[in-house]
Amino acid sequence: MRMYDIIKKKRDGQALCEEEIRFFVEGYTAGEIPDYQAAALCMAIYFCGMSVAETTALTLAMRDSGAVLSLPDMQGVRVDKHSTGGVGDKTSLVVAPIAATLGVKVAKMSGRGLGHTGGTVDKLEAIPGFCTDMTSAEMMRIVDEVGIAIVGQSADLAPADKLLYALRDVTATVDSIPLIASSIMSKKLAADDDCIVLDVKTGSGSFMKRREDSLALAEVMVGIGTRAGKKIRALVTDMDRPLGNAIGNSLEVVEAIETLRGRGPEDLYELCVALATHMLALAGKGNMADCEARVREVIASGAALDTFARMVRAQGGDEAYIYRPEQFAVGKHQKVVFAPQEGYISAVDAEQYGLAALVLGAGRNRKEDCIDHCAGILLQAKTGDFVRAGEPIATLYTDTKPENLDAAERMLLDATAFSAEQPAARPLIFDVVES
Ligand code: URA
Repeated sequence: MRMYDIIKKKRDGQALCEEEIRFFVEGYTAGEIPDYQAAALCMAIYFCGMSVAETTALTLAMRDSGAVLSLPDMQGVRVDKHSTGGVGDKTSLVVAPIAATLGVKVAKMSGRGLGHTGGTVDKLEAIPGFCTDMTSAEMMRIVDEVGIAIVGQSADLAPADKLLYALRDVTATVDSIPLIASSIMSKKLAADDDCIVLDVKTGSGSFMKRREDSLALAEVMVGIGTRAGKKIRALVTDMDRPLGNAIGNSLEVVEAIETLRGRGPEDLYELCVALATHMLALAGKGNMADCEARVREVIASGAALDTFARMVRAQGGDEAYIYRPEQFAVGKHQKVVFAPQEGYISAVDAEQYGLAALVLGAGRNRKEDCIDHCAGILLQAKTGDFVRAGEPIATLYTDTKPENLDAAERMLLDATAFSAEQPAARPLIFDVVES
């Protein structure tokens, strides 16, 4: 079998068989297939797509490229939540401690930022001392003790995805249904949780811009999970504007802490309540109404924030930052962006907002780039808000790229539309997909 023929077959729109898919995944993981051939195949998949059978074969081959977590001694139901990626999406930092406080186990493996979207691991590393690089045994000890651990994807789980994820990030091959579905589901199946809640984003800030594509992605992933014996549910949620007001790593951690204190922005708070409620209901912790009431309770009481702080301490982080988030450093260089005209913000291109944060240093252009944890954007006005000319709509922060402040400002302004009419409100949750 030759990689050249596999690329050509997919380029010409034909379906790959399981053997060919395994040849590619195993060869790439072993370092026998070079990046340029893997990138060419990803691009062919991007343009020609894959059937459900091919996507399932790709998912299982990626899962089998490494170990599958085996936790026979772990007591309790293990639940995971995963987002397909968005701008300002810090929900994992909020929902995982809520769910753990209410008695489910959350042993979460998360990713780094990808393209214009942020990643949970990068955000957590903004907490001084926080360690995301752990063995499965260390992670399990913390989950036993605290109910929750959030770590980076361990090198031994789905290594094929780790390699492909980094390659796709820099070759414009992220936003493809089979590549996203197999990437996410290979990790989820390797982590071997009992229940999975997927947050499938839709809109300008997500990889899937159109609702029908997001729904199709949700259906493919729910189908793969169900076939693998998991309890799985997917919510298709709005990403036509950034979630919350903060974009960028430490800014987002601070906003997640505020949300765990019950003081976060409404869109973020309500989405977190919904996701945590679905996690608990799927885990058999009661009906939706009861679960939702308990979710709101553990936020109001501070119990979920305490769980987050315990996890931070257990993972080597300084928990004082969780109770006094004003200690987080802010970017030394700042610029306020002012509204050029009066009117309602009628639409924003959330992807451009994510890219503006990236050029300030909050994300990576190349896979080896370092993150500036202080870099990012705090929004003072969002879609639907009325602003007068000259009022601030955002503040930009950076430590490492002050020369990019003007470019980020231009990107933000070009990505913001104004109108005399108030735009119609968009729902936060469009669909719930179950098997
Ligand atoms: N998140 C993932 O884990 N993989 C993707 O391909 C996209 C988002």
